[in-house]
Amino acid sequence: MKKFIHDFEVTRNIHITDDYFALNLKCPVSLPDMLPGQFAEVLVGNSATTYLRRPISIYDTNYDTNELSLLIKKVGDGTIALSKLKEGDILNLVYPLGNTFSMPQGENALLICGGVGIAPMLLLAKLLHSKGYNPDILIGGRTSADIIEPGKYEPYGEVFITTDDGSAGEKGMVTQHSLFTEKIKSYSIIYACGPDPMMKAVARVAASHQIPCEISLENTMACGIGACLCCVVETIDGNKTTCVDGPVFDTRTLKL
Ligand SMILES: Cc1cc2nc3c(=O)[nH]c(=O)nc-3n(C[C@H](O)[C@H](O)[C@H](O)COP(=O)(O)OP(=O)(O)OC[C@H]3O[C@@H](n4cnc5c(N)ncnc54)[C@H](O)[C@@H]3O)c2cc1C
Ligand code: FES
Repeated sequence: MKKFIHDFEVTRNIHITDDYFALNLKCPVSLPDMLPGQFAEVLVGNSATTYLRRPISIYDTNYDTNELSLLIKKVGDGTIALSKLKEGDILNLVYPLGNTFSMPQGENALLICGGVGIAPMLLLAKLLHSKGYNPDILIGGRTSADIIEPGKYEPYGEVFITTDDGSAGEKGMVTQHSLFTEKIKSYSIIYACGPDPMMKAVARVAASHQIPCEISLENTMACGIGACLCCVVETIDGNKTTCVDGPVFDTRTLKL
């Protein structure tokens, strides 16, 4: 898939919570096709300490207005600098990078998102819905503050929520939700993105029921184009780069 480097104009910086924000960005040309799971390498121009680009998933696209959006959690200097962008500022992106998810071979699909791991799942939910699927979407977090924009997913499937402390949805971890305990065998595929322990737990349950499972890894990256090898992950076929061979991997191929 062809890659682009473009200066996007910030059209909105939306404050979602103290930790999360979304950037709406207008492309200077027609927005190229992007697939769920793909990401952009973002040049953080207004931070003295952020030398390397930061990988951020494509959260949403609007081909009518040539805009895309990024959903970002503030974790360090780069993402904090991005949170300060204002309407009219310019943000340089290299995109779309990485691979995508495969489509289900059966009827039901389960999407699991933890924290900012919801970012690559919106485009996936939209694509599945456009192909006639009605996925179950399970969003997990430590508290209600980690459940970001669940309403965005409602048009594309049935949304379920878990929090560790019970402040939103069912109390407990995603793998303790009734979708796992009662409905798991009905899914032809499970997709997950979130913290490593969550994805490993989901992968284990999927494997025990012989259900295909694809996860989107958020390994630390530098170049984003397969050159520096800092994002390598061990698979049954040898080492693979998360930025080019991933970020989406079938968990049966990963040495988790
Ligand atoms: C393919 C991919 C897609 C991603 N999509 C998104 C997204 O849509 N939205 C979003 O907010 N973030 C996303 N991330 C994570 C994001 O790239 C990092 O949070 C960001 O690079 C941190 O930059 P920083 O300068 O703010 O923090 P840094 O100063 O670089 O790091 C601050 C702290 O965060 C930790 N950290 C840095 N990178 C990561 C990471 N990849 N995973 C976990 N911890 C990390 C560091 O170890 C450190 O403790 C994605 C990562 C990948 C690889
Ligand atoms: S980030 Fe350089 S090889 Fe993946």
